[in-house]
Amino acid sequence: MRAMKLTLHIWRQKNANATGQIETHVLDDVNQHMSFLEMLDLLNEKLVTSGKEPIAFDSDCREGICGACSLVINGIPHGPQRGTTACQLHMRHFSDGDEIWIEPFRAKAFPVIRDLVVDRSAFDRVMEAGGYISVNTGSAPDANSILVGKEQAETAFEAAACIGCGACVAACKNASAMLFLSAKVGQFAHLPQGQPERKRRVLSMVAAMDEAGFGNCTNQYECEAVCPKTISAEFIAEMNRDYLVASLTHVD
Ligand code: SF4
Ligand code: FES
Repeated sequence: MRAMKLTLHIWRQKNANATGQIETHVLDDVNQHMSFLEMLDLLNEKLVTSGKEPIAFDSDCREGICGACSLVINGIPHGPQRGTTACQLHMRHFSDGDEIWIEPFRAKAFPVIRDLVVDRSAFDRVMEAGGYISVNTGSAPDANSILVGKEQAETAFEAAACIGCGACVAACKNASAMLFLSAKVGQFAHLPQGQPERKRRVLSMVAAMDEAGFGNCTNQYECEAVCPKTISAEFIAEMNRDYLVASLTHVD
């Protein structure tokens, strides 16, 4: 198997206040079985060996479940492979001689901390506003006594697949967090356990989203196109209906 030669144009930025710039590196021993992050590890090993600062990037599980690997690859959050996180993207999807542009997620609510690492704690603040249930669901056998229809369970599960990565925000020209938020609201809206706090939840999570500086949704569907968990924009429509009903009928 022939090694690939790649030219990497990577965003470097010392800290949140520094001016960033693109830095170019050439790697000539990339294996097609490497993941994208392993390719960056290889580059970092070379940088460290030659006494240079390694490139800071975020990762944790490297299995497509934690949502940490927030890279924009050739202009697309998580890169060109549909339904795939950057950590699960493999180098076989690139060709020998390719030039690859690697940048951080860009949104006012996600400030760059260093190089390719952004601060996504704005999502935590939105979750704190209502992304949970506080009703006592009892022990596991008790929970089984509440019947949930198959269709409802499956829809709730589809929403719960959101890994909070933020790619939807990075792809949106308005930096809207509506796909993320609608998944987090939708996972409870389809379950009986989510009903007692349903109206309060949607109102306070939308308020927290606005407060955090995310933009409005103007139905561009860029979010749905880049979501590594293929969350459907139909959840946004559902959440908008929920929000309208809650605004007209909720009393604290
Ligand atoms: S909706 Fe998709 S793109 Fe947005 S945070 Fe969740 S998993 Fe990531
Ligand atoms: S590192 Fe966990 S989803 Fe990519």
